[in-house]
Amino acid sequence: MVTRIKQITILSPTALFLLVLLVFNSVQCRRAPAAPTGLITDKAMVVSAREEASAIGVAVLEKGGNAFDAMVATELALAVAYPFAGNLGGGGFMVYRKANGDVGSLDYREKAPLSATKDMYLDSLGNVIPGMSTVGATAVGVPGTIAGVFEVHAKMGSLPMNEILKPVIEFAEKGAVVTENQAARWDHYRDQILEVNGEETLFYTTCRAGDTLHFPNLARTLKRIMENGRDEFYNGETAKKLASFIQEKGGFVTEEDLAKYEAVWRQPVIFKYKDLRIISMSPPSSGGVTINQIFKMIEPHDIGDFDHNSPEAIQLLTEAFRRAYADRNYYLGDPDFVDIPLDFLLNDRYLSKRMETFSFEQATKSEDVSHGTVEIIESAETTHYSIVDAEGNAVSATTTLNGAYGSKLYCDELGFFLNNEMDDFSAKPGVPNMFGLIGAEANSIAPEKRMLSSMTPTIVEKDGALWLVVGTPGGSTIITAVAQTILNAYEFNLSMQQSVEAPRFHHQWLPDFIIFEPDGFPESTKEALKAKGYLINEGRTPVIGKVDAIRVLADGRLEGGADPRGDDKAVGY
Ligand code: DON
Repeated sequence: MVTRIKQITILSPTALFLLVLLVFNSVQCRRAPAAPTGLITDKAMVVSAREEASAIGVAVLEKGGNAFDAMVATELALAVAYPFAGNLGGGGFMVYRKANGDVGSLDYREKAPLSATKDMYLDSLGNVIPGMSTVGATAVGVPGTIAGVFEVHAKMGSLPMNEILKPVIEFAEKGAVVTENQAARWDHYRDQILEVNGEETLFYTTCRAGDTLHFPNLARTLKRIMENGRDEFYNGETAKKLASFIQEKGGFVTEEDLAKYEAVWRQPVIFKYKDLRIISMSPPSSGGVTINQIFKMIEPHDIGDFDHNSPEAIQLLTEAFRRAYADRNYYLGDPDFVDIPLDFLLNDRYLSKRMETFSFEQATKSEDVSHGTVEIIESAETTHYSIVDAEGNAVSATTTLNGAYGSKLYCDELGFFLNNEMDDFSAKPGVPNMFGLIGAEANSIAPEKRMLSSMTPTIVEKDGALWLVVGTPGGSTIITAVAQTILNAYEFNLSMQQSVEAPRFHHQWLPDFIIFEPDGFPESTKEALKAKGYLINEGRTPVIGKVDAIRVLADGRLEGGADPRGDDKAVGY
C-alpha cells in the first residue's frame, strides 16, 4: 500500500493525467456494449441443438407463427434430429416473456407413476438397486412433452396445430442427417441400447456421419397426434400401446397414469440483480431458486471488477454455488407435495448471512456448510432451445429424457425413447443420483410426484426490456452454466456468442471440488485456488453444458449464441 502511494506521488502531472485517462477509458470500455460475434438477424431467431430443428422453428415463424408455435415445432423436431435428448417420451420446462412484458412458465415435467413408492428402488436390506432407476422400463416416469406443447399452443399459439406439425412429420419421414458428434455418441451407447432393446431393435445402432435416418413410426405417431390432438397420447391408441409396451418390459407406467397426466402453469422465480430482472423456472425445478440465491450472494461483491475467470471471480462464484446447492439438495422438491420455505431461502438477510463465512483468503469446506461425501458418476443429456419472434415474444425451454437416450428403452412401434427421469428423485436420502446430487426427504418418491430438476430455462430483462434468452443441458451443472453465461454477458461484457463459448467451471457443494472444463483454465489459476484450500477435480472432465442463447442488441437486432461444444446452431431472419 505504502509503495503504491509513493509511486503515484512521484508521477509527473502529465503522467498522472494520462493515468486518469487510461482508467476512465477502461471503465468506459467495460460499459460499451460488446461487439456481437454470433449470428445476427433483424427480427427473429431460434437457437437449438440441431440446425434442422432451428430451421423448422424459423419456418413456422416465417409463415406467420409466433414464438409459441415455433416452440411446438422445434421441441418435436428435436425428437427426430436429436433423439439423444429431444423427445416425446420425456418432459421439460418452459419460461416465456410476451412482447407486452407478461411472463410465465410451464412445467411439463414427468411424474412418478401411481404405483410408485418411496423405497421402490431399494432392496430388502435398504440398499439402492444399481440401474433400476436409470436403465430400462423401471426407470420411466410418466412423460409430459406432448401435454406441454399442446398446453402452450392452446394458451398462446396462433397457427393451427396441423400447420405446425406437418413439417415435423415430413422431417421424420424424410430423415435427419447424422453428424460426426452423433455418430460418436452412437458408438458409445450402442451396446447399452442393444442390451435394453435386443438385437432386433428398430432404432439405428450402426450408422456413420452423413447417413440419413428415417423415423416412419415416429411420423405415424405424430400424424395420429395431429389428427386426434393431445388425448391421442394420453387416452387414445398411442396411450394404450405405450402403457402396454412399458409394462411388458417390466415398468410401472399404466394407462391410468397417462390419463391423469397434466402440464402445470407455474409462477416463475423472478428477482433483480443490479439493473437486470431475471425470470427463471420455479420448483419442481431447482434452477430458478438456486440461480436466485447465487446472484444475490455474489451481488455485494462486484464480480465485474475482477478479470473474467480470474481466481477471485472463480472463488466468489464457487462459494455461492457451494452454499446454494447445499440448500437445493435439502429443501427443494415438488411444491405440490412439499412445503418449500421460499420466503426464507430467497430472503436477502438470510443470503448475506450465508456468505458471512466467505473470505477471499481461504476456501470454505463443504463439510462446514453441511455433511456427506459423494461422487459424480455419469454425465448425460438434455437439450435447450431459445426463441425470439418478430413481435418480441420470447421462449426459453429445456427438455430432457434425463440420461443419454433416457432409459435407453426404445419403443419400436411408436418410434421414440423413454426417459429415465425417476433417477432425479432421491431414491435414498444421502445416496447420490447419477449427477452426484444427494437428496433429502423433500425429493423422496411418492405416487404422482414430480422429481426435482436442475433445468434452468431463463429470460433476462435489462432496463425493463427483453435482453437475454438462455438455458442449457448438463444435469447438475445446468444452474452454474446459466449463471456464468449471464455474468459473461453482463459483468464481463462478452458478446452473446463469446459468453456461450467461454470456458466454464462448476461446484455443487458435494463432492467438494471444482470441476474445470478441459483446456479452458491456465495452471496458474488452478494453483492460485489450490493455495487457498480449494480442491480441484484433476481428472479429465467433460464439457459443461451446451448453452443456446439469444441476446437483443441495443439496436433491436438479435445475436445468437450457439454452443460449439455440440452441433448447436442459430437460424433466423
Ligand atoms: O432435470 C434434470 O435436472 C436432469 N434430468 C437433467 C438432465 C440433463 O441435463 C442431462 N444433460 N446433460
